[in-house]
Amino acid sequence: MTASTRSDESGIDLDDIGTNPTANPSFTDLIASRLSRRHLFGLGVGTAGTALLQACGGGGGGGTSFPILPPAPAPAPPAPTPAPPAQQAPLKLNFNAVAKSLDDVVTVPAGYTASVLYRLGDPIAAGVPAYANDGTDAPSTYDRRAGDHHDGMTFFGINASNKWDPAGASRGLLVMNHEAITPLFLHPAGQTVVGGVRTVADEVLREFYLHGVSVIEVNKVGNTWTYKQDSSFNRRVHTLTEMAFSGPAAKTDYLKTKYSTDGSKTRGTLNNCANGTTPWGTYLTCEENWAGYFRRITGTDDAARSLKELASFKRYGIGGKNGSGAETGTGRELWATVAGGNDIHARWNTEVLGATALDDYRNGSNTYGWVVEIDPFTPASTPKKRTALGRFGHEGACLGPVVVGKPLVWYMGDDSQNEYLYKFVSTKAWDAADIGGGIAAGDKYMDDGKLYVARFNADGTGNWLELKLGVNNITSGYAKYAFADAADVVINARHAADAAGATKMDRPEWTAVNPKNGEVYLTLTNNSARPVGGTDAANPRSYNDPKNGAAQKGNPNGHIVRFADAGGNPAAVTFTWDCYLFGARSSASPDVNLSALGADNDFSSPDGMWFSEAAPGLLWLETDDGKYTDVTNCMLLAALPGKVGDGAAKTITNVDGGTTATQATFVGKAPGTEGLRRFLVGPKDCELTGIAESGDGRALFVNIQHPGEGTSDIKAPISHWPDGGTSRPRSATVVITKNDGGLIGL
Ligand code: FEO
Ligand code: CA
Ligand code: CA
Repeated sequence: MTASTRSDESGIDLDDIGTNPTANPSFTDLIASRLSRRHLFGLGVGTAGTALLQACGGGGGGGTSFPILPPAPAPAPPAPTPAPPAQQAPLKLNFNAVAKSLDDVVTVPAGYTASVLYRLGDPIAAGVPAYANDGTDAPSTYDRRAGDHHDGMTFFGINASNKWDPAGASRGLLVMNHEAITPLFLHPAGQTVVGGVRTVADEVLREFYLHGVSVIEVNKVGNTWTYKQDSSFNRRVHTLTEMAFSGPAAKTDYLKTKYSTDGSKTRGTLNNCANGTTPWGTYLTCEENWAGYFRRITGTDDAARSLKELASFKRYGIGGKNGSGAETGTGRELWATVAGGNDIHARWNTEVLGATALDDYRNGSNTYGWVVEIDPFTPASTPKKRTALGRFGHEGACLGPVVVGKPLVWYMGDDSQNEYLYKFVSTKAWDAADIGGGIAAGDKYMDDGKLYVARFNADGTGNWLELKLGVNNITSGYAKYAFADAADVVINARHAADAAGATKMDRPEWTAVNPKNGEVYLTLTNNSARPVGGTDAANPRSYNDPKNGAAQKGNPNGHIVRFADAGGNPAAVTFTWDCYLFGARSSASPDVNLSALGADNDFSSPDGMWFSEAAPGLLWLETDDGKYTDVTNCMLLAALPGKVGDGAAKTITNVDGGTTATQATFVGKAPGTEGLRRFLVGPKDCELTGIAESGDGRALFVNIQHPGEGTSDIKAPISHWPDGGTSRPRSATVVITKNDGGLIGL
């Protein structure tokens, strides 16, 4: 992909940002009402007269809260919570910053305890043995064990009637993604591959099961959280789980396969990265780097393909050749190559092999790249891929502010270099009577609506461009891709966004909505394909951050953009924005360390991001970094951000060797240690990702993904976390509590 060549502009009046419409009084009032209610009652499910905002992904008591405006009936009474605070004092970070570290441990501030809760391979059904963690565990048991690479996560509180209770503080369903695998640690000595072929089918079966999603029941006894191994709620969703399609692409020719000759279903989900929630109490898992799992050898398959198919494959990276001319589409993990394999292996080959699309998996890659809805309260329910939300490298799907009588909105990043930010706006207006409606409620709100992509303008404004056949250049006459119908638009959403003129971003990861004001935050993790002279106002940096003497160019440390949809209306088609925060080494030059980070809060490569509901205004940031790892392992930071426009317009100078260029942008107010502080540092070679809190905010759940990932010798793992000794490392969920029982971070 190429970097943006958008040119810079200057002469921006910061006052234009200061008057942005999110100050709309009626909206502010609604939020104030919600916050008050939340703090008075712990969590306001069904409290009349209250408009609530959600927090996406992680979730406090389910990751969602929702408005109930009169005369909507209350589906559940507010939970009694003792000792309500008398007033809303400004939040204040109240812990000593954790120092940067390269140690193989999880470090939290004094006064906190971090405990391991749920590790790779842990059994989630009665009778399944404990995980041996040496590659000898029976493959057939892995559909009842924790998956690998824990990622996005939501806590759904449960009441005594086994129903969703967002206020639930001692019992809940923890639902989490298992994005990928570290193959070396899964088998006796890594994957067995002979001549490019997987020769041990049982190893592949383990890997099929280790991707996907976990649903586990967790309980707090005393001050200790554990998961319940034999809970009837426990469930694994993996690459063999049957999924239904809904929305514009369902039951179209594009999705027809040997497995589903009417295009109504597929098997499995994978590379589930960040997540999202719905106001009716279901979980959204998002398929990110799915394209690489499919086998497609261009030298043999291209000749059987139409020009449109080839354009689609190229835009999504399905098959191709590298700079040396070697085929790149052999399929990550080589699942399609299994010697003596059957249909569960063959379906990963997305080449033309049979007479028609009903005889092979030529359309197999169209069945991935979606947002998938799972109802955790109905273990037998069939997950549904919601095609109206578009097909791309879905990072997450953060639910926007929820108001009865208004559409629902989800914000979604497409995590690849120079990809886009999207949002989906439902056609149907929210009706609180749908709480608890499960997948059927999803059919109502998520199958019909408008899909938009974002354009960030140089003057601090932005536009949401609708992705629909016949508008914004999305027609059969578009030169790079001749769109045929509504299904074609959602399946090829990246082409549609190109046609509409969206802004290429520095890898859009998580989105998060500030419950205090409805503003939306977007992590842009890093982008090595952002040359000096190729920056724009919203992606303004290009520089060199050497690591151990090796150059790291582009925007290696990433930044966070935030925006306010016009009028405080999430369905608006315009917005205002600024750059909230820039990652950097504290020692970097002022044109790189634009947020003036110091020893207690410098970081690189923001990825996971989530606003607490128990403490509205408290933002958690997680890093997935490889650029600053000469100095520190990945980390979790606590932040108290302000609002769009709280900083200043600034023109920065980007330098790469002899090339220099200026770029105008908007930089948020420098956070200082009062506004940003390092809370946790993880073990060696890990990523911090996935975050959720119990309904009272007294337990914070965090995922440690792929410790020791860079290990090349199974006899010498880089990390032994969490079990220590000479053990193989395991991805795991950690639960953090404050020793005095208080809110985390405050
Ligand atoms: Fe899976 Fe974009 O992080
Ligand atoms: Ca991520
Ligand atoms: Ca990432």
